[in-house]
Amino acid sequence: MQFCNLKKQYSDLKPDIDNAIAKVLEHGFYVGGPEVSELEKKCTEFTGAKFAKACSSGTDALVLALMAYDVGLGDYVVTTPFTFIATAEAIALVGAKTVFVDIDPDTYNICPKKFAELLETTDIPKEKLRGVITVDLYGQCADYDSIRDVMKGRDMFLIQDAAQSFGAAYKGANACSQGDISTTSFFPAKPLGCYGDGGMVFTSDAELDLKLNWLRNHGQNEMYNHKIIGMNGRLDSMQCAVLNAKFDRFVNTEIKNRNKAADKYIQLLKPLAEAGNIVLPYIMPDSVHVWAQFTLQAEDRDGLMAHLQKNSIPCAIHYAKPLHMQEAFADLGYKEGDFPVTEAMSKKVISLPMCAYKEPEEIELVCRTVSEFYV
Ligand SMILES: Cc1ncc(COP(=O)(O)O)c(C=O)c1O
Repeated sequence: MQFCNLKKQYSDLKPDIDNAIAKVLEHGFYVGGPEVSELEKKCTEFTGAKFAKACSSGTDALVLALMAYDVGLGDYVVTTPFTFIATAEAIALVGAKTVFVDIDPDTYNICPKKFAELLETTDIPKEKLRGVITVDLYGQCADYDSIRDVMKGRDMFLIQDAAQSFGAAYKGANACSQGDISTTSFFPAKPLGCYGDGGMVFTSDAELDLKLNWLRNHGQNEMYNHKIIGMNGRLDSMQCAVLNAKFDRFVNTEIKNRNKAADKYIQLLKPLAEAGNIVLPYIMPDSVHVWAQFTLQAEDRDGLMAHLQKNSIPCAIHYAKPLHMQEAFADLGYKEGDFPVTEAMSKKVISLPMCAYKEPEEIELVCRTVSEFYV
């Protein structure tokens, strides 16, 4: 069994994807071809954000977003310690410092109450605390209304790291429309993945969009005229062609398939949850989850993991070592015990195989194997 069946996705769409790639080879605009704006149009129509700029990865999308706000040395940005390193890495890459805030134990996303406490108690000068990067962990949006409430009256930006939530929705609005700038990743294993690295930056602010457009292309506003310092953060035409060919199926079928797979897991694992062996994922009311990961909390998580591996069931831990305990962030001065909810979850969570092409029999086998461990 595979954690996610990426080859199956390709074989179903082979003629469309092969055609799309062949077109790029024929016209020869490998960078900046018509496929790029086609993808950006699809992304704005789908998400509801006014503007979208394709870029080289989800990590670069975050760096570009921070650069658009001129975040740099002496600045601070708030985020969660329970995320992939890229979220806080981007803050460090632009020269700023991360301020972590603990998560909500149900959603695993930034806890609005703790965020409010942080803003009230911090001694970081207001003008230096520039904004927050929220993360929609495992494919479920953070609680944006509550987070926006906390930010009311403060001059702070909200960057939505939607690397895992493209295809999710919050209160009727699709993910990538909740941030002042939102970012996503098209890494192959993400809900919508290309055949390499890729990402997208979204905003509904025309001025920010123009700046993001320059930033991703060496700060260039016209050929060889560089207005600002930027980077090579473009997404090539070939990856855009692949994403264009996959887009409709993702929107019309794959989001539903992922939810069907999650429903089946929840139905089959319910007895274990009732027995107290596991905690099933919490789904926020009025939201659509896209299940980038199907992650539960498990009693004796490491024992369960060994049992699954012994039975050739792939599984993963997202994430075993919180960011405030990573050596790379030692300079921030955090220590074990600073974020108790994050630390507790990092010892309990386990992700089971998930993708849009999980056969019911595969899910049944996974659930049987999980259940065997607790008899
Ligand atoms: C929450 C989060 N942010 C950012 C990224 C970075 O995306 P990429 O791998 O496309 O650079 C990832 C990728 O796993 C992620 O999960």
